[in-house]
Amino acid sequence: MKLIITENYEQSAELAAQMMLDVVTEKADALLGLATGTTPVPVYRYMVEAVQQKKTDFGRVRTINLDEYIGLDGEDSNSYLYFMRKHLLDACQIPPERVMIPNGMADTQAELDRMNAFADANPIDVQLLSVGANGHIGFNEPSDVFYDRYHAVKLTQKTRESNSRLFSSIEEVPTEAITMGTGGIMRAKKIVFLATGEEKLDAMKKILEDGEVTPDCQGTILKFHQDCTLFLDKGMADQIRPAPYVEVRRV
Ligand code: GLP
Repeated sequence: MKLIITENYEQSAELAAQMMLDVVTEKADALLGLATGTTPVPVYRYMVEAVQQKKTDFGRVRTINLDEYIGLDGEDSNSYLYFMRKHLLDACQIPPERVMIPNGMADTQAELDRMNAFADANPIDVQLLSVGANGHIGFNEPSDVFYDRYHAVKLTQKTRESNSRLFSSIEEVPTEAITMGTGGIMRAKKIVFLATGEEKLDAMKKILEDGEVTPDCQGTILKFHQDCTLFLDKGMADQIRPAPYVEVRRV
C-alpha cells in the first residue's frame, strides 16, 4: 500500500483523478471501476473537467460500478446509476452500452449472473474506492468471510443510518444491495483509494496500521493489494501510524 499525504481533501481528489486519467491515457478502452458516495464526487469533477477540456479522451472508456441498492430504479435520485450519470457518465458522454452497473429493479439472481459474467471476463484496469464508517468496501459489510464475486447483501443498521443523510428519512434507505465482492475489488489491477472525515478514522487505522486482516473490517484486505494508492489529507493521516511496510509520501 502506498500512502500519499496531502494538504487537504481537494488536493487528494485532484491527484486521485489524475491517476485515473493516466490509466485512460495509457489504455484508451480502459475499464474503470467506479464508486459512489460523497467521497468520490470531487474526483469525478476533475475527471469531467479533463474530458471536457479534451485533455483526456473518454471515447472508448468502459465503466463498471461496485454496487447498487436493490429496489431503486435508475431514475430514482438515490440510485447509484442516477449518481453516476449526474457526476460522470453524461458529462463524459459514456453511453449505456459501455456502462456496467447492477440494475436494482431486475431479478437479483439474473443481475448477479450478468454482472459476474462481465466481471469474470473483463479485468478492471483501475478501481476508485472509498470506505464506509464500518470499514466496508463497496457494500461488503462486516462479516465472518470475504465474499468473492457480485452478491446480494443486507445492509447493516450503521450503513443505513450513515447513508440516510442522502434520503429524506431512514425508512427510505433500501435494506439490501448488490455489490461486487471483496475478491472482485482485489482483482482490480490498480486501486485508487480515498477517505476523509472523522467518522472514517477508526476504519482507516485498521486498514493502515499494523494489525489483523479481517472480514470484520473488509477494507483491511487492501493491505494485500500490490498496487493500491491511498490519498489522505494530513488532518486524518497525522492521527494514524501506518505499518512499517506502507510507503508514505507527503506532497
Ligand atoms: C456507500 C457505498 C460505498 C462508499 C460508502 C461511503 O455505502 N456503497 O462504496 O464507500 O458509501 O460513502 P461516503 O463517501 O459518502 O462516505
